[in-house]
Amino acid sequence: SRPGKVDDEQKQSGVLVETKTSVPDPKEKRTKPPKHQNPRRSSTPAHTKQIPRNSAQPKHEHPRGNRSFKQSDGVPPYLLKKRDALLPIRKSLPIWPQADAIKASLKKNNVLVLTGETGSGKSTQVPQFLAKEPWCSKCVAITQPRRVAAISLARRVAEEMGTFMGSQSPTAKVGYSVRFDNATGPGTKIKFLTEGMLLQEMLRDPVMSQYSAIVADEVHERSVNVDLILGFLKNLVADMEAGKSKRKDPLKIIIMSATADVESLVHFFGDPTSSPTTTEPQNQRQISTCFVEGRQYPVKTVYLPQPTQDWVEAALKIIFQIHYKEPLPGDILVFLTGQDTIEGLEKLVNDYAEGMDKDVPKLLTLPLFAALPQHAQQCIFQPTPFRTRKVILATNIAETSVTVPGVRYVIDCGKSKVKQFRNRLGLESLLVKPISRSAAIQRQGRAGREAAGQCYRLYTEDGFNTMDERTIPEILRCDLSQAILTMKARGVNDVLNFPFLDRPPREALEKALLQLLHLQALSEDGSISEAGLNIAKFPLTPTLGRVLVEAAKPERDCLLDVIDIISALSVENVFLNLVTEERKEEAEEARRELYRREGDHLTLLVTVQRYAEERSDRKTWCEKHFVSHRAMQNVMNVRKQLQQQCTQLKLLASDEQSSTSAPSEARSQAVLQCMLRGFISNTARLMPDGSYKTLMGNLTVAIHPSSVLFGRKVEAIVFNEFVFTGKAWARGVSAVQLNWVSEVVESIM
Ligand code: CDP
Repeated sequence: SRPGKVDDEQKQSGVLVETKTSVPDPKEKRTKPPKHQNPRRSSTPAHTKQIPRNSAQPKHEHPRGNRSFKQSDGVPPYLLKKRDALLPIRKSLPIWPQADAIKASLKKNNVLVLTGETGSGKSTQVPQFLAKEPWCSKCVAITQPRRVAAISLARRVAEEMGTFMGSQSPTAKVGYSVRFDNATGPGTKIKFLTEGMLLQEMLRDPVMSQYSAIVADEVHERSVNVDLILGFLKNLVADMEAGKSKRKDPLKIIIMSATADVESLVHFFGDPTSSPTTTEPQNQRQISTCFVEGRQYPVKTVYLPQPTQDWVEAALKIIFQIHYKEPLPGDILVFLTGQDTIEGLEKLVNDYAEGMDKDVPKLLTLPLFAALPQHAQQCIFQPTPFRTRKVILATNIAETSVTVPGVRYVIDCGKSKVKQFRNRLGLESLLVKPISRSAAIQRQGRAGREAAGQCYRLYTEDGFNTMDERTIPEILRCDLSQAILTMKARGVNDVLNFPFLDRPPREALEKALLQLLHLQALSEDGSISEAGLNIAKFPLTPTLGRVLVEAAKPERDCLLDVIDIISALSVENVFLNLVTEERKEEAEEARRELYRREGDHLTLLVTVQRYAEERSDRKTWCEKHFVSHRAMQNVMNVRKQLQQQCTQLKLLASDEQSSTSAPSEARSQAVLQCMLRGFISNTARLMPDGSYKTLMGNLTVAIHPSSVLFGRKVEAIVFNEFVFTGKAWARGVSAVQLNWVSEVVESIM
């Protein structure tokens, strides 16, 4: 065995031993400056850079690239070959033998609760089982909490069925619909969509007339949206049974979860009362249940002997320990908290990997977080190259939502970023919190999908034992204004009596109602206003929706500008995050012409406008200004869709063109006043001591270092979000006049 090998006993006792071979010590100061300043830009291996959007298809056989291939000819042979090759793999999934039982149970009852380990085949196989059933004359919808899962599942299922995907061909049977990206066609039979998109569809078509079955997947994640979907579906079933629904053909509902919390789901759907006001005793509704036993190899768990604060460094050390001691194949999956820690560790791993001996296999780092562009996310599904070990650096996306093949080692930092609404402050923020024991167990399980594995927990065994048993559902800890607006738009007037799987505290519901009143999305009597109806139709938070609706008013007349800004706010980090001081200074200089003294919103506007104007070489323009080209491509996509939606809602005339000239003083003011109209809770004024205090809540905030206003003193600011790292930071900041703030406050009080 190699020197420095950690033997199994040591691992089990939880002691991590330093290796004595040429493993670079992360603590050791680097003598050589890192070759690549930004690993995302320069050190990502070539093959990870350009995965074609529809990688299921070889390029030469793309229907649009090959005119001799007629779409109506049916399916080309390579798709059928792939389908046949995947069949034995499908048949070996734990869910396969249960197909008949699943189909039979849905013949009997309208609702099925299906639980099974991650990877047992629920998301990929169940929709295929259903689609062939005689009752399934329409489409099957499967909801996912995340875009990346919706897209990758659609791709996989299309391959398994030997069909095209999305709008590639009229014969495509599988599609997806995620925010700002709809890939469905006339032939779509199985449609993966994010929960938010299904809710939007429910607004337009409450009885879900285009579907024969709705599968709510990953219900254990308990996002607010899935809780709303469950409530709506329960009402829908009750209406259908009572003959009160416009819908006459059956609708089957399948609830899928990775954890065995069957009882509460069965109780929820089985309870015939859709509203507590119904007092007559009724029979329990019959619900079918099915449990799929997963295939799980043993996973050895190693704890840290001492707690650590610096888990990025701890993770770095373990990655190299594994890499030097454990044979290939065996990829490493590291759970981190977010983009910042992922990018930090990615850079460290790449830097140290450069110093590895030639005979050591290569390391390939692959980040995975929600804001990462789609094609970069899809890289994790590519086979690991020869003599290489993949290191996937992920947020809790990889916990249950996405099955990453090839993983034998898991490193779990024990934390995740969660949305937390602070009732007292009236604000929502992302906080880094310890995960629950059930999440830790899910993470550990990822190591044992294909063979025996190892899980390194970057916390102590005591730390594990003191974690909460289960993750608190989002609905109990987040801002409910969007959820309530969705309900109101869907015709649920009495939100306090909506069937919630877990009822949020009354205080939180009331706070959200008040917030919506402030945004004038609701009228005084609590019914939805015309503005509210428009806001609900946008895939945006009510605050951003309010800004849009405000900008469409004739007296503001700056809708296109506001669309540009909101598009830039919808993607993460338009400006590249730079690591060294030198590069930072260089970037400051290059971006100076984009910066606006009014703050970040107008700076974003100018950036989007300049980029849009640049017709010849946008990539070079981005490089020159240290702007992320990928992010800007996404911005343009969002921008186009928001413009289309505004045209459909008649907020925008169809021939209106985006301005290319920098906004005038008056237009800049109008833009900022619109921002203020939505973000009135996120305003702060300058105090005599030079600090800023929020107008609502009296909280001290500082302008985030990423802002162009960092270090500046202005009488009042409006900002997009709070970030808590040590103290409260305001991010996405603009300077506003105090009397504008007072005007808005007066108009809503
Ligand atoms: O839903 P559940 O977690 O039970 O399993 P699944 O997502 O249906 O995954 C079943 C299997 O399909 C996984 O173990 C993967 O091997 C494969 N799969 C894949 O290769 N690519 C995807 N995008 C999704 C699944």
